[in-house]
Amino acid sequence: MSAPNKSYDPVEVEALKPEAVERAREDALEAIAGAGDLEALHEVRIAHAGDRSPLALANREIGALPPKARADAGKRVGRARGEVNKALATRLAELEAERDERVLVEEAVDVTLPARRAPLGARHPLTTLMERIEDVFVAMGYEVAEGPEAEAEWFNFDALNIAPDHPARSEHDTFFLHAPGAGAEGAEGAADAADGPGSGVVLRTHTSPVQIRSLLDREPPVYVVCPGRVFRTDELDATHTPVFHQVELLAVDEGLTMADLRGTLDHMVGALFGADIRTRLRPNYFPFTEPSAEMDMVCYVCRGDSVGNPDRPCRTCSSEGWIELGGCGMVNPRVLTACGVDPERYSGFAFGFGIERMLMFRHNVEDMRDMVEGDVRFTRPFGTEI
Ligand code: PHE
Repeated sequence: MSAPNKSYDPVEVEALKPEAVERAREDALEAIAGAGDLEALHEVRIAHAGDRSPLALANREIGALPPKARADAGKRVGRARGEVNKALATRLAELEAERDERVLVEEAVDVTLPARRAPLGARHPLTTLMERIEDVFVAMGYEVAEGPEAEAEWFNFDALNIAPDHPARSEHDTFFLHAPGAGAEGAEGAADAADGPGSGVVLRTHTSPVQIRSLLDREPPVYVVCPGRVFRTDELDATHTPVFHQVELLAVDEGLTMADLRGTLDHMVGALFGADIRTRLRPNYFPFTEPSAEMDMVCYVCRGDSVGNPDRPCRTCSSEGWIELGGCGMVNPRVLTACGVDPERYSGFAFGFGIERMLMFRHNVEDMRDMVEGDVRFTRPFGTEI
């Protein structure tokens, strides 16, 4: 940088010559106009308006001029710099607008594209219904008890007072896993349970063997609710399935009577179907209960109003007013004796019913096959109960 000098002629300072300033200005404006994107403009700004740009360097020379030359040079350089800065600002605005427009197009989200869904599963309504029933009994102090699905014949039949010539024992109803006397190896849980080597192994045909296991495992009083899968040699059709579910109840205590059975049934249907829904008992026969009954509940849809009323038929109970639930009765003293419980001191009641059937009339499921096919379109409408 030159020192102040009285004889100094600004025209002689190369950078401050009007042509030089004009050239610097033109170069800058041309470069700005030619900047195709924001990055290029950034480079242009450094080159033409930055600290080391010709106009900035020229500006720096001004201070060294004699006072009279300073104003003239200052005006010239100042105007040029002002113009360059304005052009930069304008070009910046243009390029930013262009970029924003491009981003809007390139990064646009097509909200009509199909979304990637992670489908929510749902628990099977049979499971949730069984758990709901268990809850009703757990709330009354019952304990949940389970037994093996491959069961010793002794538990499934003999101990329940089902004699060897009872029709339920015929192969027609029962899946036999091991013939009597063949031993029970391979049938988990059943092997140790088989009462002696003579007992064959079956897929349990009902949950009643859990009654026996519960009585053998515990001292009375016994209050258990036994949910589980059971098996019978039925073909799968709209109303049958070879694999289905039951819930079994057993109460053994001092002084239990049929009134306790009835009250318990009424409480259960009240909790599941509405407080005013009642049960009725019709005489029936089961080898393991005496007396035995078939239990019905008042139709929770028409509450009996459809009976003899052809104008208002009821699909749920076929206008019968009652829905059949399952079997029940007072535990046969022979069963208590087989389990080492003194029938002189203790009495009990039991009942058992099918869950598929209950699900059918509770939710208007018309075809039992829907329950076993595992299609989420069947389970999902029941909600994602946990
Ligand atoms: N176990 C019987 C059945 O499967 C139902 C039942 C259970 C009957 C308990 C009486 C008492 O049909």
